[in-house]
Amino acid sequence: MRILGTGSALPSQTVTNDMLAGFLDTNDEWISTRTGIKTRHILSDETLVDLATRAAQNAIASAGITPEDLDFIICSNVANNYVTPALSTIIQGNIGSNCPCVDLNGACAGFIYALDIAESFLKTDRAKKILILCAEEPTKFCNWQERSTSILFGDGAGAVVLGAGDDLKAIRLTASSKKEVLYYQRKMEPTPFEHNNEMTMPLVMNGRDVFRMAVSSSCSDIDFVLKEANMQSDEIDFFLLHQANMRIIEAIRTHVHQPTKKFPSNIQRYGNTSSASIPILIDELSREGHLPEGSQLLLSAFGAGFVTGACILTWHTIQY
Ligand code: COA
Repeated sequence: MRILGTGSALPSQTVTNDMLAGFLDTNDEWISTRTGIKTRHILSDETLVDLATRAAQNAIASAGITPEDLDFIICSNVANNYVTPALSTIIQGNIGSNCPCVDLNGACAGFIYALDIAESFLKTDRAKKILILCAEEPTKFCNWQERSTSILFGDGAGAVVLGAGDDLKAIRLTASSKKEVLYYQRKMEPTPFEHNNEMTMPLVMNGRDVFRMAVSSSCSDIDFVLKEANMQSDEIDFFLLHQANMRIIEAIRTHVHQPTKKFPSNIQRYGNTSSASIPILIDELSREGHLPEGSQLLLSAFGAGFVTGACILTWHTIQY
């Protein structure tokens, strides 16, 4: 694969820590020091479909292709208000494309899961141009009367267009069923045949367990892909990590013994936007000219499942 174009879109409403402290028992100092987050963008008047459409259009324009050129759309999304049809099919109509579409739920590691699937399609010549779109609204999973999860998340969409190339040097996906540390249950319609009416829950998270699992799984994925690519950590130019908590990023940085400047972040402004966090970061860095031609990028993410993914890519600059 090769990344040919990137795009992203964030909701217009910015929410500061002080705004949250207006209705939750929390404060800017606690949120900043424990997470690194100062603001996040939260959907108000727009919808996730609006954001996803904008991100997709930006990625397609920067790749210099038309929507008709796409052979496949993979949309990474944990949940949105359409249970069916798939979000990818809605965006397909908005952008005017006519290729097959599928949604995948790889939680916050969804972008890397999508990259691996796309690589198989490109390698076997089943597709020449693929849109990966990560569109997430995790702020709608949280209990907003409660401070433990609602302070962490933001909404957003990030997208890339992929074409053929040999830029993927190594990739690793993992999953291990650990539902209890992080889950969200949606209400389904009752039927006359159902006897056990299970209660649904807003996002439930054991923050300390997730923190520990995130650091250890990311460190082991990073070691794995470095070995697979026959590279040392100092040969990586940028570690683009899932933006979940600045302290998680810092713990991973310490593990690989690399300087802070190799760990660009935007969690300060956006919070955790789930699977959209890495493609939003890539889009921003690329548009601002921070990713030189030939840079080696290491991506790593983790999320509910518990799922993880990491990969190493060679970067080629994009003209916007
Ligand atoms: N504001 C103020 N105080 C808060 C608070 C908030 N929003 N949330 C918790 N606290 C308090 C707790 O009540 C506790 O007080 P106590 O010591 O008097 O009991 C104290 O702060 C420490 O709570 P704890 O939960 O141990 O904090 P922590 O250092 O583990 O940080 C998280 C909590 C959620 C920030 C951290 O565990 C984390 O980031 N985990 C990973 C979450 C994540 O990445 N999830 C998504 C994965 S894709």
